[in-house]
Amino acid sequence: MTSEGTRAVHAGLPEVRPGGPFGSSPVFASTFHLSGDPDGPYQYGRLANPTWVALEAAVGELEGAAATVTFASGMAAVSGTLLALAEPGATVVLPSDGYPATRSVGDHLAARGVTVRLAPTAGDALPAAVRGADLVWLETPSNPGLDVCDIARICELARAEGALVAVDNTLATPLGQNPLALGADLSVASGTKALTGHSDVLLGYVACADPEIAERVRSWRTLTGGIPGPMEAWLAHRSLATLHLRVDRQAANALALATWLRGRPEVADVRHPGLAEDPAHAVAVRQMRRYGCVVAFTLPDREHAERFLDALQLTAVATSFGATHSMAERRGRWPGESVPPGFVRFSVGCEDTDDLVADVAQALDAALGKVDG
Ligand SMILES: Cc1ncc(COP(=O)(O)O)c(C=O)c1O
Repeated sequence: MTSEGTRAVHAGLPEVRPGGPFGSSPVFASTFHLSGDPDGPYQYGRLANPTWVALEAAVGELEGAAATVTFASGMAAVSGTLLALAEPGATVVLPSDGYPATRSVGDHLAARGVTVRLAPTAGDALPAAVRGADLVWLETPSNPGLDVCDIARICELARAEGALVAVDNTLATPLGQNPLALGADLSVASGTKALTGHSDVLLGYVACADPEIAERVRSWRTLTGGIPGPMEAWLAHRSLATLHLRVDRQAANALALATWLRGRPEVADVRHPGLAEDPAHAVAVRQMRRYGCVVAFTLPDREHAERFLDALQLTAVATSFGATHSMAERRGRWPGESVPPGFVRFSVGCEDTDDLVADVAQALDAALGKVDG
């Protein structure tokens, strides 16, 4: 099997046998029958479960990983990786413009003797911050600003310093980019978003190039218990079969919406890495195969953005991205986000493009007061 869509359909599934089902069912077990000295893969539910093991094989195949560890949520994966790998005295570089909770984990690291350096995803500060670091954390494209950094270049600089590189691959998904193939040591993601894509699962994973590093992360998970539930792992695995269909459709819709938004005078700073005019495009095109489902743009002020969001009919106001249904929010409503008051993060779903653009058009008109009443 060579192509990635085919891999996504079949990854981690058992061989089909005559009279057998096409998938495996979730194994609900807090413990497994175990006599004598502990032996075998399944002993106790916090240590391993066959439903995650199958999902880990599938995600690992798509990420090109030697070993993968799944977690209960993206933040369990992010914090598990950082806490397992950043020891007191280490220097860690984190994005200043990425998902705010990752920076908050950085505050906990700093309180435990780790030096934390913050650097924005785009520009020269990030390559400079790699000097003397032990662990470099990238989030590209960044959430919510959609800046992109050159993964291969940062990995080269980090290797010269003996530093590990972890990339938050939530927004791109393994069908959008493969950080490990670009030289990263870890690809970490929230599977809650586009990977599972139906707004019904919280999940995270850490895909590792080196099995020994995966073992350190796995031991941390076993110790602290941030394991995925079997039902979530099963739902996630089931969703992988449509991942390529969903991300292709979302990427096409996102590009169409971003292109259309550029023609609206009240809309500023339309960002999407797939747009040829986007400041991130030149780097994105070298390392991404699909540009994700998020479009960011800025309306004149908070009230204008709120009128726009209230007027959306097809698109729900919600705080997430990557689902089959479109959703949007004013990102500045969350503490820790430094974006303009009118900044909107729009997650494009799998709806028909014309319906989506028509919904955004009528909501922008309503926000301007063109069609109200
Ligand atoms: C880039 C990124 N990383 C990690 C997370 C955390 O994921 P979760 O909500 O599954 O814990 C998020 C959540 O939005 C995210 O956007």
